[in-house]
Amino acid sequence: MMPQGDGESGRCPWPGLSRELMNPRIGLLQPYPFQRLAALTARLTPPALPPINMAIGEPRHPAPEFLAHEFGAALAGVAVYPSTRGSRPLREAIAAWFTRRYELPAQALDPDRHVLPSAGSREAITAVIQARIDPTVREQPVVVMPNPFYQIYEGATLLAGAEPYYLPTGPAQGFRMDIDAIPPAILARTQIVLTCSPGNPTGQVLDQGDYERLLALAHQHDFLIAADECYAEIYADEEAPPTGLLGAAYACGVKDFAHCVAIHSLSKRSNLPGLRFGYLGGEATFMERLLTLRTYLGSAPSQLAQLVAIPTLADEAHVRANRAQYRVKFQDAQAILGDVIPITPPPGGFYLWLPIPGDDETFVAGFYAQHNVLALPGSYLSRESGGINPGAGFIRLALVGPREECREGLGRLRTYIESLERSRDVSSSAH
Ligand SMILES: Cc1ncc(COP(=O)(O)O)c(C=O)c1O
Repeated sequence: MMPQGDGESGRCPWPGLSRELMNPRIGLLQPYPFQRLAALTARLTPPALPPINMAIGEPRHPAPEFLAHEFGAALAGVAVYPSTRGSRPLREAIAAWFTRRYELPAQALDPDRHVLPSAGSREAITAVIQARIDPTVREQPVVVMPNPFYQIYEGATLLAGAEPYYLPTGPAQGFRMDIDAIPPAILARTQIVLTCSPGNPTGQVLDQGDYERLLALAHQHDFLIAADECYAEIYADEEAPPTGLLGAAYACGVKDFAHCVAIHSLSKRSNLPGLRFGYLGGEATFMERLLTLRTYLGSAPSQLAQLVAIPTLADEAHVRANRAQYRVKFQDAQAILGDVIPITPPPGGFYLWLPIPGDDETFVAGFYAQHNVLALPGSYLSRESGGINPGAGFIRLALVGPREECREGLGRLRTYIESLERSRDVSSSAH
């Protein structure tokens, strides 16, 4: 029987679904950093300077020019539903990319068994966690992740019914995961170790030795290594690309990529965050299970994205030019800020992860209120663990905008830091 409705107010007399009747794990999700930043700055009135947003890591260099033609050519191919597995030519292009990038032998990756496309790396990370976490084990499963971290790691972990373990990547650890610091009691419950190399936000990279120790532990404790490598193509030294999970695994004899999945994306590599195209490579058995899950999730990348990804993956010229643009901006940062704040360009990624005087939230609010530049407080990307919050006292600046805009933002940061130092000097001499 349908409800009669309340003619006067127009309200339906049946109550809606209460929060208690919904997935309680959604309630565990933390506010997203950009929501927190919007709340922090909502009541502030910045000066009438051109606004500069350095908070969001959204690539803003132009997408490769040849894509204009490729999009046109792909139109004829979109009159079909996209395949979750991806077409054979697409999987060949993905396998060829991994092979070239990590110097694998030609037959190391089978396009039919080892690789899959995704709609960006964000959803792929969530799907990988869902596919591996087995919540039916006696003790709660653990996902180990760097701290600070890309927020999806924590959210996907909580949604899968697992417990996050935050491995600090602060100054004491050289801003990278110390693989040997995962406590034995945690390892016993670990089902996934997430790595992020080059790291967001620190820009540091894991090396062959790190991966070898991690692979040995994965074998011993039967966990999956899920390597978020979406910054793999943004690095400082053109002659020394950082290694990745699959390259490191193969080099130390794990030729079937057991316990491995590496997650990549065209968002940062090719400046196509709006295309939503990612790709994965890893252990065949895991990839097969992942494909089954993804078929039901309905997360095939769009047909247009799959078609244009093939020539995009094959082209390296635009990727080299992209890296060169970031290198120049890191040099600018050193030149502009170097004598007020220590700057060492990171080996990878496009973020400046800067130690700042005092509390990072207060610093970011003041910087916005006085200079109309948005930065991200480091503590929004990290959690307190063992009494320490490794993101506190840092800010993250994304060098994604045009060079002149970045230079202007960095110049305003310099002015802001100098003004803080002057007022500190004045107040200390007054005491
Ligand atoms: C560390 C990290 N992983 C994954 C992503 C997701 O990127 P996309 O879904 O565009 O591939 C981002 C985006 O900023 C990121 O910083």
